[in-house]
Amino acid sequence: MKIGILTSGGDCPGLNAVIRGVVLKGTTNYNIEFVGIRDGWRGVVDGDFFPLTRHEVKGLSKVGGTILGTSRTNPYEGPRGGAENIAKTLYGHRIDGIIAIGGEGTLAAADRLSNDGINVLGVPKTIDNDLRATDYSFGFDTAVNIATDAMDRLRTTGDSHQRCMVAEVMGRHVGWIALHAGIAAGAHVICIPEVPMSIDEVCELVNKAHSRGRAPLVVVSEGFKLTGMEEAFSDKGLDAFNRPRLGGIGEVLAPEIERRTGIETRATVLGHIQRGGSPSAFDRVLATRLGLHAADAVVDGAWGQMVALRGTDIVRVPFAEALGELNTVPQYRFEEAAALFG
Ligand code: F6P
Repeated sequence: MKIGILTSGGDCPGLNAVIRGVVLKGTTNYNIEFVGIRDGWRGVVDGDFFPLTRHEVKGLSKVGGTILGTSRTNPYEGPRGGAENIAKTLYGHRIDGIIAIGGEGTLAAADRLSNDGINVLGVPKTIDNDLRATDYSFGFDTAVNIATDAMDRLRTTGDSHQRCMVAEVMGRHVGWIALHAGIAAGAHVICIPEVPMSIDEVCELVNKAHSRGRAPLVVVSEGFKLTGMEEAFSDKGLDAFNRPRLGGIGEVLAPEIERRTGIETRATVLGHIQRGGSPSAFDRVLATRLGLHAADAVVDGAWGQMVALRGTDIVRVPFAEALGELNTVPQYRFEEAAALFG
């Protein structure tokens, strides 16, 4: 059996650990031959493959990024794209199936290709933790740790100057990183995409913390909308999927907070720092286990499905069930955190 592995969409700490897990189990237990596919679906469309053996994956579980490269290429676009062309390319290289490691966009493309007769198995990844079919996605824990460490640092400099510090974290549609890092760092306000707040509400909590002698810490997801905003703030154009590139809401909030409260305020955007570097131990273990189970799933011919974490078990979920609805922060989780605000 010959299997191609790709990583697609935004990168995420733990991608290499998945690749290592798949290759180690697949070669040792099942004698599968693997090829790496360069730069996500772009490599499938262009037939850009290279041999992936135990040698290529050694020591990889601690390494950030992806040795395969990634892109946001849509496999249905371009003259060589589409299921028929891809089937021919795979056949030409004697590749029996693809393991696609990616987020919502990648898995949606995998689902479509699978419906069109290509053997695809999915492994979910996203630092945002926005996929409903898995309890946690690898990358999220690392991002939360990085954001928490950054906020601990913002708090000490905020305390020294008696300033309000605004920390902007990633989270396009969901506020998991803001919620978890905000609770861990003891934030006084957490603003997430699921729960619009007015600038008055934000300032009231900032004033409350300040009046107790604290330097207020406001955490905001990039996808947060102030009450009345139709879309999340974006001034950086569109990405390859024609989605607005987010980032900058922190710089919108900071001057407004300063103007209304009179408290000197600074904003910090953590951005891609949250996606870089070594995965946490939790993410290494989760990613490795998903990789090991992906190798089993391929041997079982479980195409059209993805491996996922349910409780402490790795299970298989059909693409159709995994896609569609996002894993948003439920209201009760926000209310839990809100008890700590101000
Ligand atoms: O992976 C999801 C994400 O981290 C979002 O939170 C963010 O909007 C997006 O990726 C940014 O990705 P890029 O700048 O790589 O296009």
